[in-house]
Amino acid sequence: MLNYTSIDDIENINSWIKEAQEIKANPLKNKDLGKNKTLGLLFFNSSLRTRLSTQKAALNLGMDPIVMNVSGDAWGIEFGDGTIMNGNTAEHIKEAAAVVSQYCDIIAVRAFPSLIDKEKDESEQILKSFVEFASVPIVSMESATGHPLQGLTDAITIAEFSTNKKPKVVLSWAPHIKALPHAVANSFTQAMHKMDVDFVIANPKGYNLNKKITKNTPVYHNQEEAFKDADFIYTKNWSSYESYGEVLDVENNWTITKDKIADAKFMHCLPVRRNVVVEDTVLDSDASLVIEQANNRTYAAQLVLKKILENA
Ligand code: CP
Repeated sequence: MLNYTSIDDIENINSWIKEAQEIKANPLKNKDLGKNKTLGLLFFNSSLRTRLSTQKAALNLGMDPIVMNVSGDAWGIEFGDGTIMNGNTAEHIKEAAAVVSQYCDIIAVRAFPSLIDKEKDESEQILKSFVEFASVPIVSMESATGHPLQGLTDAITIAEFSTNKKPKVVLSWAPHIKALPHAVANSFTQAMHKMDVDFVIANPKGYNLNKKITKNTPVYHNQEEAFKDADFIYTKNWSSYESYGEVLDVENNWTITKDKIADAKFMHCLPVRRNVVVEDTVLDSDASLVIEQANNRTYAAQLVLKKILENA
């Protein structure tokens, strides 16, 4: 594997899950694989889990991670081709990506969407520019339209906690005070399409995700109906895709409660706003898998880095 920028880069999710479980059982087994190799982590946006778990994964493989908050600390990067750079940007991605490639053996990038310009967001300009102009493999740590490390983590977690051969998995929209990206929901959907699960999506009218990603997944606008007999309820807010980036008025209360989830396990990628997205009674109960998910972020990242190092 050269790059990991999408769930589509996973050829066989079941074998990947098995390999991740082996890594989890013995995280230091390949501690020499990344010796004298450097992982560069470039953040255009905030992070807690991705930042720490990806560094931890690199350390478990013997790599040296180096981290930069690009937006705050680097020169402003220009992505336009042929731009006369007499504005706020001081360095072109052509040089920036090539230069970081001199210091790093793998580059991981986090760059969120604007949620203003759908076409520009969907062009994945930042991630794709790194793929084009870097001379080393690129890993997405969440881009405008996808969060493949999170999607892989969620697949690993569902496999780990499933007691049914073919569990029912619901991706449910929940409220939030801000306009949030579609990346986590997109990658979760793509990961579920690769697994043997009964997968449905619940969201209010006006909040349907990109049909090119959801494909034939059943979409319910009635949360209660969608939750019937669910084994896993994966919750995430996202802004409207149809009215791009908008936060719409919603009928009914979509906050996740203990009564609503019944016997299902609760999942969320974190960070989560308590008592807005989900009530304390769910997060503080045995039904919640959020900490187990966060733990599995390390093994998902470690699996991806291992595959890239083995391919080098
Ligand atoms: N789930 C996730 O990606 O968390 P961070 O934004 O804190 O990295």
